[in-house]
Amino acid sequence: MQSDMYSTFSSEYDLAIQDNIYNAHLERPTLQAMLPQLKNLNVVDLGCGSGVYAQYLLAQGASKVTCIDYAEEMVQLVARKAQQAGVTDRVNAYAQDLAKGLPNESTASADLIIAPLMIHYIENLTPLFTDVYRVLKPGGSFVFSTHHPFADFEYSQSGNYFARELVEQEWDTVGQPIQVKFYRRSLTEIANALTLNGLAITQISEGEVDKKVEQMDKKAYEYLSNNPNFIFIKCRKE
Ligand SMILES: C[S@@+](CC[C@H](N)C(=O)[O-])C[C@H]1O[C@@H](n2cnc3c(N)ncnc32)[C@H](O)[C@@H]1O
Repeated sequence: MQSDMYSTFSSEYDLAIQDNIYNAHLERPTLQAMLPQLKNLNVVDLGCGSGVYAQYLLAQGASKVTCIDYAEEMVQLVARKAQQAGVTDRVNAYAQDLAKGLPNESTASADLIIAPLMIHYIENLTPLFTDVYRVLKPGGSFVFSTHHPFADFEYSQSGNYFARELVEQEWDTVGQPIQVKFYRRSLTEIANALTLNGLAITQISEGEVDKKVEQMDKKAYEYLSNNPNFIFIKCRKE
């Protein structure tokens, strides 16, 4: 699902998430804590955005990171950062709609696939998860984060938790309201899309907000310490 947030405002988005509460002090530390040892791993980053995860993966010793995003602007940002860091031989970035799966990736080629905060932009998860299974090496991991189904139920139009619904909102992430559309869905739908495609769930987290946030914004810290905002799921290709 395209949004100006990730195309027209890609540079502003990159800047905003470097040190903000939701990405830098809740989402990234929680997901990163669920990753395996990264040294020498071949990693695929789905919905890579501006490449903050790619930078982390490379710094932790991943041998290669393939970055895929719908937005050409994000892909260009990742390529530019790789060039500036002198790591173009370890980064491959390209634009593609992940709702169509991973047609460019070879079978059993990745040790680890990550998808931070991306799957809620995809209506039908099956084509992507089928390909995640195909592209992972046996024993490889898939780790992703998404909106917590319980938190998103607040935006339901139908009042039916189990219905998948398109939600339209305005977010202030980049300092001005930008329209964003995403899908809310049940935990059952997410779990079934994984397990029916051969991915065994090995860990679930509901996120832990960094203690630093208490100094940044006491109200947000209290809220995020008492309410789930994201869900984090780790799976293994058996
Ligand atoms: C919330 S951002 C997260 C970016 C990055 N993973 C991070 O955590 O910083 C979501 C990203 O998913 C991308 N995206 C949304 N729908 C997509 C799709 N169907 N195919 C590929 N990328 C998509 C957006 O362009 C955006 O860069």
